[in-house]
Order: sequence, then structure tokens, then C-alpha cells
Amino acid sequence: MKILFTGGSGKAGRHVIPYLRMQGHHVVNLDLVPLGQEGVVDLKTDITDAGQVAGAFASRVDLTTLDEGGGGGGYDAVVHFAAVPRIGLVPDVECYRVNVLGTYNVIEAALRAGIRKIVIASSETTYGICFAEGRMQPDYLPIDEDHPTVPHDSYAMSKVVNEATARSFQARSGADIYALRINNVIEPHEYARDFPDYFAEPDIRRRNIFAYIDARDLGQIVDLCLKAEGVGYRVFNAANDAPSVHLPTAEIVERWYSGVPVRRELGRFETLYSNARIRKELGFAERHPWWREVADPLGERGQASE
Ligand SMILES: NC(=O)c1ccc[n+]([C@@H]2O[C@H](COP(=O)([O-])OP(=O)(O)OC[C@H]3O[C@@H](n4cnc5c(N)ncnc54)[C@H](O)[C@@H]3O)[C@@H](O)[C@H]2O)c1
Repeated sequence: MKILFTGGSGKAGRHVIPYLRMQGHHVVNLDLVPLGQEGVVDLKTDITDAGQVAGAFASRVDLTTLDEGGGGGGYDAVVHFAAVPRIGLVPDVECYRVNVLGTYNVIEAALRAGIRKIVIASSETTYGICFAEGRMQPDYLPIDEDHPTVPHDSYAMSKVVNEATARSFQARSGADIYALRINNVIEPHEYARDFPDYFAEPDIRRRNIFAYIDARDLGQIVDLCLKAEGVGYRVFNAANDAPSVHLPTAEIVERWYSGVPVRRELGRFETLYSNARIRKELGFAERHPWWREVADPLGERGQASE
């Protein structure tokens, strides 16, 4: 597929794009800063400017095919990751403005360009725990896509609004539009650097509901979304199978979630941020669990026991 990817120069995009290219996709990256990866065209575009975004969908990006004519465009799908990725980077209202306006502009322009598959980055923060004022508990565990989304902060509010925007555009167009509620993205170099701290002090991971998504496994999820057909509007949690700490799930529940209803029996090392839907409906199968990257303090998982 020929994919227009927004925000590909960021933490997630720089791993997702190579994964998509390995699957044979052709990727053009719309971002304020270049990704600079060989084989990926960077088109500097501000997603908050509707004119730039609409223009980007039609712009010629490949100068080597000028002789053939035909101009630009011709995308099969859009993956929209560009955003201010959390509170605390710019004033709250600017985070909200960039994310909400940018997402409206990208989806509207994509549909006007005749694109029938759009994948947008939503967030775990929509569930209201990550950036909550005070210690917020989930309504129930594991957190699945039906859990209420009533966050306190402007970043998560922008993602809730973006999901509503996506849903309405889907209803109007009949296109396939999926929102990925991505958990905390972990890049390959972060396992050795950060996970020992998570094992020593698991409470660090409380606001992420102890979950994570490997950046390369996120690539697999995006690719599965691109290959799926006729799903309409759908929200998917994006997370790996196990918590990002070494503790058994039952111990995490006992220590951190006293009084929170647990709706079903959980596996010994099952994530509390359910990825059951993406596994069941799109066939996600993680390839990069943390215990292949860093030693398990319990010694139960790891390369030796594979
Ligand atoms: N990193 C995480 O743990 C995480 C978790 C959940 C959801 N997400 C979401 O996933 C997506 C990617 O996150 P990330 O961690 O790679 O973020 P990032 O900040 O590393 O990358 C975002 C990219 O968007 C670009 N961008 C920002 N404003 C723009 C604008 N106005 N026009 C064009 N480009 C603009 C930035 O230049 C950057 O390259 C975001 O939508 C984020 O909200 C990330």
C-alpha cells in the first residue's frame, strides 16, 4: 500500500515506519521535522493548517517519476500519529488545539482524497488514569475498550474528542477508521535502561496500568489494521501480553487494586490493559515481550526457558 503517515519522525513512528516498509508498504512521512530514513519521503507539513494538509495529499513527492507525469497523491491509507504526545510540553490548550484540529484536518483531507482506510493514534490516557489529578482507580479490571473514558487532562481530552471525530467521519463516509488506544511505547534501547528500575520500584508503572507496547509490536498492530477490511469504526487497545513489571498479575491486583472488581480469571502474567480484542479480531501476536530483552528477576521467563 501507499501510505501517508503523519508524525512518523517521533518515538513510535521511527519504529512503526520501518516495520511497515518491511511488509512492502511505501511510506510518505508528514511531519514538522524530517525522519531522515532512507526510502521514506519527508514532506514538511503542519497538520494544524488545513490548507497544508489538503495540499499534502495531492503534492508530488517523488521527483524521479516526473517524466511519467501524473502528479502526486494516490494514497491507499493514512496512519495519523502526529500530535503533542502528552501534557506538560506546551500549555494545555495548545496540546488540545494541535491534537484536535490536526486530527480533524487529517481525516477530512484523507476522505476528500478518496482514502478508505485511516488508522489514528489514540491513547491509554483516555481511560482517565494516566494523567489524573490524584490517584484514580479503574472501574474494573482488566481495562478493555468498553471502560469509560472521562479523563481530567487536556491531552487525553483531545484523544477522546479525536475518537468522536473519527467515529462521526466514519459514519458519514462508510470508510474504515480505527483508533488505537496505545499504551506506553517502549523502544528497543529502553528495556535495558528502564526496566530494572520498574522491577525495583513497580509503582513507577501504576499510571500506565502496569502495561506497555513494544514499538515494533505496535508496527505489527498498525500493519494488521491496514490489512483488515470492512470493520467500520473500531477502537483497539494496543499493548503487549504481560505487565511491564516482573510481578505476577494476581500480586499486582492485590497490592494496587484493592476493591476494584476483577471481571474474569487472569493469567499468571496477563496484562491488566486488555489486548484481547486486537488479538482476537485482527490476529495480533506479540513478538517482542520484555523478557526477551532484559532478564526476568523471577527467572520464570526469558531466552533460557524458551
Ligand atoms: N509514546 C507513547 O507512549 C504513546 C502512548 C499513547 C499514545 N501515543 C500517541 O502516539 C502518537 C505518536 O507518539 P510519539 O510518542 O511518537 O510522539 P512524538 O512526540 O515522539 O512524535 C510525534 C510527532 O508528531 C510531530 N508533530 C507534532 N505536531 C505536529 C504538527 N503540528 N504538524 C506535523 N507534525 C507534528 C512531531 O514533530 C513528532 O515527530 C501520538 O499521537 C501520541 O499521542 C503515544
